[in-house]
Amino acid sequence: MGKVYDWSEERPEIQAIADDITSKYVPPHVNTFHRPGGITPTCPPVQVATGSATTFYHRPTVAEAFDSVRYMMTEVNFGWSIRSVHRWSASMMVSTMILHAFRVYLTGGFKKPRELTRVTGVILAVLTVSSGVTGYSSPWDQIGYWAVRTVTGVPEAIPVIGSPSVESSRGSVSVGQSTLTRSYSSHTFVLPLPTAASMPMHFSMIRKQGIPGPP
Ligand code: HEM
Repeated sequence: MGKVYDWSEERPEIQAIADDITSKYVPPHVNTFHRPGGITPTCPPVQVATGSATTFYHRPTVAEAFDSVRYMMTEVNFGWSIRSVHRWSASMMVSTMILHAFRVYLTGGFKKPRELTRVTGVILAVLTVSSGVTGYSSPWDQIGYWAVRTVTGVPEAIPVIGSPSVESSRGSVSVGQSTLTRSYSSHTFVLPLPTAASMPMHFSMIRKQGIPGPP
């Protein structure tokens, strides 16, 4: 252990980073209403781990998606458990994020000088809900199909750009394989990247400015 410690101290100097992390104390005004803000970021690592595992079995085609999920639930060792954790953790991530946003709003935690924390938080909220919606459609069951049909149809009411944006999000005039492909690609590849980039930005701002007290 001593040799490993000495080796790392000569190179990445981890002790200085560890000292910085452990020197911060939780301020006394932090109470139980701050919990959702701590629970929300524990979900993405769970989602990445369980989501990556489900990609081994999920087949994102309109003909096979539902059966591949059924196969995972009934035949694959612990498939039911991995898929269920992915689903429960997704629900927890969205619900604790909403509670966290309420707490920030009610305690005025978004005010100057925390504008950047607010902006990165709003970006994370949009990415989280988008991940939820695109994941929800993945099994291509009735609820997933109608969810993606409703959500992609929302911009229709906007003049001029409404219809083209509906078509481009569906990949076609109607909902079908191209919609599922876009949704699945967004879910497993496109959305996780900006989410992973925005999280450290959100946290570093919180760490720099501290947790705000009551208004
Ligand atoms: C790298 C990250 C992720 C990967 C690789 C991934 C992968 C997958 C895959 C392959 C499926 C289809 C399997 C199935 O339906 O059971 C799925 C479903 C789903 N995902 Fe993800 N996912 C990721 C992150 C997320 C995040 C961040 C959320 C939510 C905030 C989320 C929410 C969902 C939901 C709600 C479903 C539907 C689950 C179900 O039908 O039981 N996923 N995901």
